Amino acid sequence: MQTIKHILIILFFMSYSNKVKAFVWLQQDIEQQVDSLMQKMNLEEKIGQTVLYSSGMDITGPVLDKAYKDHIKAGQVGAIFNATGAAYTRKLQKLAVEETRLGIPMLFGYDVIHGHKTIFPIPLAESCSWDLELAEKSARISAIEAAADGLHWTFSPMVDISRDARWGRVSEGAGEDVYLASLIARAKVIGYQGDLKQNNTILSCAKHFAAYGAPQAGRDYHTVDMSEIRLRNTFLPPFKAALDAGAASFMTAFNELNGVPATGNPFLLDEILRKEWGFRGFVVTDYTSINEMTHHGYAAELKHAGELAMNAGVDMDMQGGVYKNHLLQSIQEGKVSEARLDEAVRAILRMKFKLGLFEDPYRYCNEETAPNILMAPEHMEFARELAQRSIVLLKNHQEVLPLAKQQKIALIGPMATDEVHILGSWAAQGDRAGKAVSLKEGMEVHGLRFAYAQGCEILKDYRVGFEQAIALAKDSDVVVMAMGEAEYMSGEAASRTNIQLPAVQRELIAEIKKTGKPIVLVLYNGRPLDLTWENQTVDAILEAWFPGTNGGLAVADILVGEYNPSAKLTLSFPRNIGQIPIFYNQKNTGRPADAEGAHPRYSSKYIDADNSPLFAFGYGLSYTKFIYENIALSHDKLGPNNSISISVEVTNIGDRAGEEIVQLYIRDMVGSITRPVKELKGFQKITLQKGERQTIRFTIEANDLKFYNKDLEFVVEEGDFLIGIGGSSEVAMKHSFTYSNK
Ligand code: BGC
Repeated sequence: MQTIKHILIILFFMSYSNKVKAFVWLQQDIEQQVDSLMQKMNLEEKIGQTVLYSSGMDITGPVLDKAYKDHIKAGQVGAIFNATGAAYTRKLQKLAVEETRLGIPMLFGYDVIHGHKTIFPIPLAESCSWDLELAEKSARISAIEAAADGLHWTFSPMVDISRDARWGRVSEGAGEDVYLASLIARAKVIGYQGDLKQNNTILSCAKHFAAYGAPQAGRDYHTVDMSEIRLRNTFLPPFKAALDAGAASFMTAFNELNGVPATGNPFLLDEILRKEWGFRGFVVTDYTSINEMTHHGYAAELKHAGELAMNAGVDMDMQGGVYKNHLLQSIQEGKVSEARLDEAVRAILRMKFKLGLFEDPYRYCNEETAPNILMAPEHMEFARELAQRSIVLLKNHQEVLPLAKQQKIALIGPMATDEVHILGSWAAQGDRAGKAVSLKEGMEVHGLRFAYAQGCEILKDYRVGFEQAIALAKDSDVVVMAMGEAEYMSGEAASRTNIQLPAVQRELIAEIKKTGKPIVLVLYNGRPLDLTWENQTVDAILEAWFPGTNGGLAVADILVGEYNPSAKLTLSFPRNIGQIPIFYNQKNTGRPADAEGAHPRYSSKYIDADNSPLFAFGYGLSYTKFIYENIALSHDKLGPNNSISISVEVTNIGDRAGEEIVQLYIRDMVGSITRPVKELKGFQKITLQKGERQTIRFTIEANDLKFYNKDLEFVVEEGDFLIGIGGSSEVAMKHSFTYSNK
């Protein structure tokens, strides 16, 4: 009976050719499946797996270069990006599955950076929530929407540490701090990938490997030259965290590192990523970055560039066509070994198997589910919640915020009605006008008494709207000014040498100031700005970043106090651009300006500005106030086998409930290399009711104190440590303990 049943099952499977394959694949484990498939592949088919092409976008949707279609049918394309929509990816997948000799399915990639159709706050904003659960959930929802739209793979998270606000891509990262950014990297990978077993989880891609966030003078794509100690202590840890969380792929960076382009860099890709860290996913280039090695002056021609990339450890060529056009010859000439190509192909196929594409190549091509999933009400609701928790209150003089419902408000500024820029850069599939909620609409939802005048444009030097805006301000109790950067002023290829608000906006603020009315400045931008003048001029500053599809509602929720702001900066705001790069965990120098008895002139400082930033890492206000008392350590001696418990009492002394991000900083006093003046080593996000007090505990172990020392060993060194706990990085470091190996 059992045998008959088995035969029937087999016959059932055999009636569908794809399912026959499924039946066979299911019998073996992934490595065997990869091996047996590879045995059937010829060289050209293997090279085909390493080719990633873009499907361009037309007004009505994606279009594929006609030549690419022929390449797909010839088995010369392993993956496509910028093709979206389940119907379209199904059509393309059909070409690969039904018209090629081996029917190997393609991967569909996309820049799902902060949401797919439902757009969440930009990653820098999200990091200001310091909320790992929310960061994971936004990735989860992004994956659900992307998968419903025919995609398998996102080019996210960007885990580049950056401390240079001139660099437009700080908007895509998690800020300046290694510890926080590493935790966020992990949360994002887990959110996107889950166990990769359901058809609403997608592959992630940690990028841009490595040190892309440290370009010379903040200019995108520019040169990086740094010590290995710095690379390992600051720039690599978030990548390692992404890898440990299971990141399926890594993307190389556009920059060179110490003279070697990252895309042809065996030290990064082979020595560290593969050998030291044991990475088993695949490495993709950034857009045409193999080809760009000729401009770097590292390869004379494309074939050589391809050899450098392949031999360094790059498995897939994004858009450059170098592997497609030259790799065969390089292998025939013995410049690249077939074994290395096999390794690359194996890494790519492994992920296709993990996604279940050999069981069902159309798993992610279900046209019927998309309408119910894309921008589902619960996704939009979450976008509002995440935006609320990403918006940082920078100033609130005389508690001008929250606004009272009976106040007469003048709403002024080019961002007040905006539904486009508020999504930020890389909102590629985000639905803009009509779906996104502007601040004006958000204020209407709250039933506020307000009138609106645009006043000026974001950049254009027109003052025609000034008069109307001034008249409106005069006739109001309070002015809300919605100002900022255009979406294209941050993000890729958007470095700035001046990070102030555009001049016309500053002039309008100056004119409104003359009316004497209190001003609440709501800012939309993708990077820290130089707000020194605004900080002296306006009464309140709300840093809304680019808050995403439901951003206008979230800002209005905060303006009226329905949500009490809780976010804290993850990237320092300089007093002026001359302070950049500026970050909290800097070195002390031999002449610290804040030391007792420091020389009034010959200490490490500027003669025209303070050393401190205008707004520090970890800083952010609430409508209530928290005090920190009674910091206590369980021991003052730490060894390899014990831990120290540190407690602090936090009390909400204001008149409403609020959330606080309690931060723990440590300073290693003396090291075999000099150590930063403080480093974040723990944080907790708590909610306290009015008048409530809570005891918060942290645990410190030897592992938390490790760093790459002068011999590039990851160790904890004996000696004294200082501790500070508070609501920003500007905490005093007053408590101490000693670490000893004995
Ligand atoms: C960016 C990457 C992105 C890629 C694909 C490049 O220009 O640097 O971050 O993933 O394009 O769109």
